Amino acid sequence: MAAMADIRNIVILTGAGVSAESGIDTFRGGGGLWEKHRVEDVATPEAFARDPDLVLRFYDMRRAAIQEKEPNRAHAALARLDAEWPGDLLIVTQNVDDLHERAGARRVLHMHGTHLNAWCTACDARSRWTGPLIDRPPCPACGARALRPDVVWFGEMPYEMERIYGALQAADLFVSIGTSGAVYPAAGFVREARELGTQTLELNLERSQGSAWFDETRLGPAGELVPAWVDEMLG
Ligand code: OAD
Repeated sequence: MAAMADIRNIVILTGAGVSAESGIDTFRGGGGLWEKHRVEDVATPEAFARDPDLVLRFYDMRRAAIQEKEPNRAHAALARLDAEWPGDLLIVTQNVDDLHERAGARRVLHMHGTHLNAWCTACDARSRWTGPLIDRPPCPACGARALRPDVVWFGEMPYEMERIYGALQAADLFVSIGTSGAVYPAAGFVREARELGTQTLELNLERSQGSAWFDETRLGPAGELVPAWVDEMLG
């Protein structure tokens, strides 16, 4: 790694591994969510059109479950870095839970949406939502019974890509934490960063699919690796 004095702007990409120690299932690997549910059944626009009850019930369960979980040491350390880092910093999360925010982080971008919003397909309004959607409650903005989870499904475009690429352009350091590198476009950020000459660091339990692209990889649980890295960054 270059001297810390050379690093001013940081982009951090987080994935399910950051929330694993809070008791939220990851997607891939043994016991992962996609082993228990087929992506094509619950996480595509086609699935929602075909069987909306199945999809709404699946997300209602997930929305209820995450509200019982608490942020862990990795979320807390990233919130501390966000609060204390003097340069630009953006936590781009693929996670649809709100544990970064509940730990206190402010500079967070949810590129795959969030469980705690409902999106009205009639008027396009997004409303904070903590309860179930299965009974087709009315949209708080327009009253239409046309709410869906505000999560990005396979085949849909992740949110705020321009802002993310803008932050990557300006970054001196790109850090990927707890993500398998299996899902694009997030999986491509490390290549983008490398091509821009940005330093790249991976913190993960095991090597991700894009591991070869990182300047440095540290393997272990996020609850240990992230606080140690944040201590280094803040000196
Ligand atoms: P994955 O389930 O694909 O990968 C989780 C990664 O976290 C794996 O590489 C694990 O080794 C690692 N991991 C597990 N426990 C960890 C721990 N305690 N500390 C550190 N690392 C740990 O999850 P994502 O990469 O986030 O998209 O998945 C990306 C996207 O695929 C998700 O946002 C979701 C999913 O399908 C959509 O739903 C659109």
